[in-house]
Amino acid sequence: MSYNLLKGKRGIIFGALDENSIAWKTAERVHEEGGAFVLSNAPIALRMGTINELAEKTGSQVIPADATSLEDLQNLVEKSVEILGGKLDFVLHSIGMSVNVRKGRAYTDLNPDWTATGWDISAVCFHKVMQTLYKNDAMNEWGSIVALSYMAAQRVFPDYNDMADNKAYLESIARSFGYFFGKDKKVRVNTISQSPTPTTAGQGVKGFDGFISYAEKMSPLGNATAMDCANYTVTLFSDLTKKVTLQNLFHDGGFSNVGVSQEVIETFTGEK
Ligand SMILES: NC(=O)c1ccc[n+]([C@@H]2O[C@H](COP(=O)([O-])OP(=O)(O)OC[C@H]3O[C@@H](n4cnc5c(N)ncnc54)[C@H](O)[C@@H]3O)[C@@H](O)[C@H]2O)c1
Repeated sequence: MSYNLLKGKRGIIFGALDENSIAWKTAERVHEEGGAFVLSNAPIALRMGTINELAEKTGSQVIPADATSLEDLQNLVEKSVEILGGKLDFVLHSIGMSVNVRKGRAYTDLNPDWTATGWDISAVCFHKVMQTLYKNDAMNEWGSIVALSYMAAQRVFPDYNDMADNKAYLESIARSFGYFFGKDKKVRVNTISQSPTPTTAGQGVKGFDGFISYAEKMSPLGNATAMDCANYTVTLFSDLTKKVTLQNLFHDGGFSNVGVSQEVIETFTGEK
């Protein structure tokens, strides 16, 4: 169902790798709601993924950018404003990667160089994206910037590894930059703390199948899917949420506020 919530709005969507990506679903929903956007991803991901399909479907252009490169980001922002015919109203940062997770290094045995690379890709580049938008005065007043986070920023999930620290840093950047973006440009900045979701990044985490099932059992509404997340993001890009900023918004079917659920107790007692 479409409500035309984003009619006339323009933006950039980072991170659509394949049809499972949260950014992919978001691009589809933003398109349905009347928004126009440029799609961006790292050059290597563009070669591996299927983003051109999405571009065709949504009538969008694709501009490669390694989100850790200020030069790439400058080019992306300049070209996006040009292609879309004006300043931007929304930006989705849907990017994350830990080299330590990928290579199976335990949290107690991290390779510091890999930690730094993952930190840059998963957290610092959000600052780089916003700094580039800010310096180029590329956002319209009442625009909205969203990045995706996970609850391991607040609570321990051992196999989430150094991504937990990256997410804590990401959420802090949203608040810190959100202050200046709000004061100076009337732009809001939030993070969505999303349920475990079966995507390439999600499934790269050790024990993913266990913790997605556990979260499902713990959440009174069940896990939020990638499509649910896309819908929520649409509301945050719309004019209906103009005064929501500097927030980390839990989008997890209630998981974050549950101590234990009946279903989880039953797995221990065997009693219904
Ligand atoms: N899947 C989950 O369980 C889950 C839960 C909560 C939050 N998130 C977050 O959602 C976001 C999107 O992940 P996803 O689950 O859709 O997985 P995904 O693998 O589909 O998306 C991750 C994206 O990051 C991109 N990327 C990696 N390095 C990059 C770079 N240097 N420059 C630009 N882009 C780069 C990848 O190409 C990919 O498109 C991430 O921030 C992730 O941490 C995911």
